[in-house]
Amino acid sequence: MNLNIAVLPGDGIGPEIIEQALRVTKVVCQKFGHKLFTRTALVGAAAIDQVGNPYPDETHNLCMNSDAVLFGAIGHPRFDNDPSAKVRPEQGLLAMRKKLGLYANIRPVTIFESLLDKSPLKRDRVEGVDFVAIRELTGGIYFGQPQGRSEDGNTAFDSSVYTRMEVERILELAFRFAMKRRKKLTIVDKANVLATSRLWRQIAKETEPQFPEVEVEYMFVDNAAMQIIQWPKKFDVMVTENMFGDILTDEASVITGSMGLLPSASIGIHTSVFEPIHGSYPQAAGKNIANPCATILSAAMMFEYAFSLMEEGALIRKAVEASIVAGAVTEELCEDKSKAFSTSEVGDWIVDYLSK
Ligand code: IPM
Ligand code: MN
Repeated sequence: MNLNIAVLPGDGIGPEIIEQALRVTKVVCQKFGHKLFTRTALVGAAAIDQVGNPYPDETHNLCMNSDAVLFGAIGHPRFDNDPSAKVRPEQGLLAMRKKLGLYANIRPVTIFESLLDKSPLKRDRVEGVDFVAIRELTGGIYFGQPQGRSEDGNTAFDSSVYTRMEVERILELAFRFAMKRRKKLTIVDKANVLATSRLWRQIAKETEPQFPEVEVEYMFVDNAAMQIIQWPKKFDVMVTENMFGDILTDEASVITGSMGLLPSASIGIHTSVFEPIHGSYPQAAGKNIANPCATILSAAMMFEYAFSLMEEGALIRKAVEASIVAGAVTEELCEDKSKAFSTSEVGDWIVDYLSK
C-alpha cells in the first residue's frame, strides 16, 4: 500500500517526538512492504515566526492532499505569557481541526501492566482500566461566536454553541464505538446548568432507541472528573463536548502513569490527524528527554484508522509495551534517573525491536 503522510512537527518537543514516530513508521512500512511518502509542513509558533500564520494555506493543502497527518505539538511560552498576542499558535491547531472537519477526537485510555506502580492511583483502582474518551472537537466554547472583549476591555466573553447536526454526528459515532466494545456509553455533560448540555441530552435520548444494546449512562462533568480517579474501570466509552473532553482526557492520561503515553486520532470529514494528547512541553524542548511513546502510539492509530492496517498498528503497540517492560523509558518513568533513556534511545530500542 502507498502511504502519503503529511508531517507537522510543530513546536517545543514536537520535532523530537515526531522524528521517533517517523522512524517507527518507516521500519513498519519496510517490514510489511508498504511505500511511505512523507512531506513536512509548518504549524504553530514555528509557522507564525516564518510566515505569520499558525496554519498556513500551504500546510492545509498538504493535509488535504495526504492520506493522514502525523502531528507533534504546538504552543510556546512566549505566547502564553503575552495575553495581548493577536496571533497564537493554538489557533493553528483549532483552524486545522475546523478546516479538516475533524469533529471527533478519539483518546483511548489504557494501562500498561508494567507501569501500574507509576500511577498516582492505587494498583487495584487502575489495574485493567480500558476506556475510550471521545471528545467533540470542532464545536462548543473553543469556536463559538461571539468571543471577545468589550470596548473598555473590562469584560470578556466566550460562547458555547452546538447545533443539532454537530451533536447528532458525534453521538452516533460514540454509540457505534460502544457497539464495537463493551456496549456501555457514558454521556458527560452539565445539563443541570448549560443549555448546550440539555440539547446534547435530548439528542442522546432520541438516539438511544437506535442502539438498544448499548447501556447508556448520563453523568455531570464534575461527577465524571471525580469518577475517573475513583472508579476508572467502570468506563467503556465516554463522549463529551470539546472543553470537557480536553480537561477530562488530561486527567485520565495521568492515571496511566505518564501523560507521555496517550495517543489520539482526530477523525471527521477530510484527512485524519494523529497526535499525542500532551502539549509542546517547552521546558524539555531540544533536550532529548521527552517521552516519544504517545506519538509512536499515535502512529499506531494512524495505521489502524487511516489505512485499516490493524496488524501494523498492533505490532507498534506491542513494541512500545515491550520497551516499557524492558525499562527502555524516559526519565519521568524511571525510578533511577541515571538509567533513563533519552527520546532517541527509546526510538532506537523500538526500531530495533521492530527490525527483528
Ligand atoms: C489538546 C490541546 C489543545 C486543545 C490546545 C493546544 C489548543 O490542549 O489537543 O488537547 O485544547 O484542544
Ligand atoms: Mn488538551
